[in-house]
Amino acid sequence: MKKTAIFQPLKVGPITLKNRIEVAPAAPFLAGPDSAVSREFFEYTCNLAKSGAGVVTIGVTSVDPGPGGRTLTLANPMWISYLADIAEGIKRYGAAASIEMVHSRYMLSDPMKVVNETTTEEVEEVIACFARAAALAMNAGFDMVLIHGGHGNVPSMFFNKKFNHRTDRFGDRNRFGIELCKAVREATKGKIAIEYRISAEEILPDMTTLEETLEYAKVIEPYIDMLHVSRGLLEEDSLLPVINAPVYLPRGANIPYAKKFKEILNIPVNVVGSMNLDLAEEAIERGDVDMAAMIRTIYADTGCVEKARKGKDDDIRPCIRCNTCISRTHSMFKTVRCAVNPLIGRETWYNMDVPARKAK
Ligand SMILES: Cc1cc2nc3c(=O)[nH]c(=O)nc-3n(C[C@H](O)[C@H](O)[C@H](O)COP(=O)(O)O)c2cc1C
Ligand code: SF4
Repeated sequence: MKKTAIFQPLKVGPITLKNRIEVAPAAPFLAGPDSAVSREFFEYTCNLAKSGAGVVTIGVTSVDPGPGGRTLTLANPMWISYLADIAEGIKRYGAAASIEMVHSRYMLSDPMKVVNETTTEEVEEVIACFARAAALAMNAGFDMVLIHGGHGNVPSMFFNKKFNHRTDRFGDRNRFGIELCKAVREATKGKIAIEYRISAEEILPDMTTLEETLEYAKVIEPYIDMLHVSRGLLEEDSLLPVINAPVYLPRGANIPYAKKFKEILNIPVNVVGSMNLDLAEEAIERGDVDMAAMIRTIYADTGCVEKARKGKDDDIRPCIRCNTCISRTHSMFKTVRCAVNPLIGRETWYNMDVPARKAK
C-alpha cells in the first residue's frame, strides 16, 4: 500500500516531527546496574532510531532514585552526559528524542496506600521529581518527554474514584494531573513538547471509564502537547493482552477509542496497540488520529519505516505478536529479545552493517 499520510510532518507543541510514526516506549533492561545509559542501551536505541520513525521514545525512566537495576533514571543530574549522548544518537537519524517518565517507587505500590497514605508534602515532592526530571531531559537535549499517566501509573491512581479518598486539595481527582503537567511545563519553559500517555479505560468494574477519561483529557489539555492513547492496567494480569495484544486478538483495537479523544481535543492524538504501518496509514488518512506509536512492529523489522517510505512494503518482516519480547522483560526482568529479529537486545554483539557471508 502506498503511504503518504504517515509521512506528513506533524507539529507537536514547539517541535515539528518529520513523520507520524513514534517508536513507543519500551524498557529493554539494557541499562547499566546503576540505571545509567550503557553502551548496550545506546546501540539498541540508535538501532530503533534508524527505523526512520519521527520520534523515538525511551521507555520507563524513573524520576525518583527508584529501585535501580537495568532501567534508566532521570533522578541523577550527574548522568546528564550519558543522557545527552543517547539524545544525540537518536537525533542523528532525524528523529525527535523523547523519554518516558514514571515514579518508579510508587508505580509498583498499592494504589490505596500511594493515594491515601502520602502527605500533601510527599505528593508535592512526587510532582517536583517529575519537574526536575523533565528539566534534566531538556538540558540533555531531549525534544519531548512522555508522562506515563496510563496503565495504572501514579497520575491514574490519583484520578481513580475507587482509590482517591483524600481530604486535602489532591482529593480533587483532577488536581494531581493538572499540577503535574503544569510543573513539567514550567520546568521546561515551553521549549520541549509534552506527551501524555493515558488509558482510555481501565476496563475492570469500578475502575476508570472512557467517559471519565475523556473529561480528564479535556482538563489536562492546556498543559500538554499530545495525548497518547492506550487502554488497560499493567499490574492486572488479565489486562496484559489489552496492552500487548497477542496474535489471536485484533490489531489496532485502540483506534476507535483514540478517535473519541481526537473528536474533543485540539491537540494531536497518538494511538498505540498492535499498530503496523498499514493500519497507521489508514487511521491517519481517515482522520481518526494524528499519529501512531508502535514498538513490536519496529522490533521485528527496525528498517520498516524507511522500507515503507521507499515503497518496499513487501520487504518488511512482520511482528508475529508472539510476545516473547514483553514476556522476557516484564515477567522475567531479562534483556529484550525478538523471536523474528535476533539483533534486538544484542546490538553490540554483532557488526550489523556487515551482511552475512552466506544468506539463509
Ligand atoms: C519489550 C516491551 C517493553 C515495554 N516497556 C514499556 C515501558 O517501559 N513503558 C511503557 O509505557 N510501555 C512499555 N511497553 C508497552 C508498549 O509501549 C506498547 O504500549 C505495547 O507494546 C503495545 O504496542 P505494540 O503493539 O506496538 O507493541 C513495552 C512493550 C514491550 C513489547
Ligand atoms: S518477540 Fe514476537 S511479539 Fe515481540 S516483536 Fe518479536 S515477533 Fe513481535
